[in-house]
Amino acid sequence: MPVIAVAHPLVRHKIGLLREDQISTKKFRELTHELARLLAYEATADFPLEKTTIQCWSGPVEIDQIAGRKVTIVPILRAGLGMLDGVLDLVPNAKISVVGLARDHETLQPVHYFEKFVGHLSERTAIIVDPMLATAGSMIATIDLLKARGCRDIRALVLVAAPEGIAALDAAHPDVRCWTAAVDSHLNEIGYIIPGLGDAGDKIFGTK
Ligand code: URA
Repeated sequence: MPVIAVAHPLVRHKIGLLREDQISTKKFRELTHELARLLAYEATADFPLEKTTIQCWSGPVEIDQIAGRKVTIVPILRAGLGMLDGVLDLVPNAKISVVGLARDHETLQPVHYFEKFVGHLSERTAIIVDPMLATAGSMIATIDLLKARGCRDIRALVLVAAPEGIAALDAAHPDVRCWTAAVDSHLNEIGYIIPGLGDAGDKIFGTK
């Protein structure tokens, strides 16, 4: 099962606040940032550790450190940018790759218009961020691009997932795990998640 619904009380509380119709841009941005941080905490829980010895005030002490993991965070433009800093809070040395995919509102298919990947993707863990897993078209296309460049450890963070998107992601990339703050009811006829958040990009950027 590639989609993991995070049941932490803080996540459930904050995703509920995010659904408020009259929410301000500032509040939506803050909650998106906080949720991205909480999801990143969950998605990095299996990072391997190694022992190393450091000089502590009281003498040498053995500590744990993350074992040489290189991370790239991959925001899908433009809404994914709203989640970027929340992940960077926890993985500050991560490099950033960017993918530009817009949804064709007629076909609901992703249209690819930009990409800039960091190097050595075969050695990296990629953490894709995009608030809405609706049809999963953009997510699947981004994973395709990463795999074509040799990336093998790919994870995704979304705020809300639709069952249709979960099924599509599972069918296309069963090896990719996706952490979400909520699994909602369904997609409407124009591909919006119900109850969802509305247009997450517009809410993060204040456009509308
Ligand atoms: N993108 C959004 O911003 N919202 C949805 O509900 C679906 C896709």
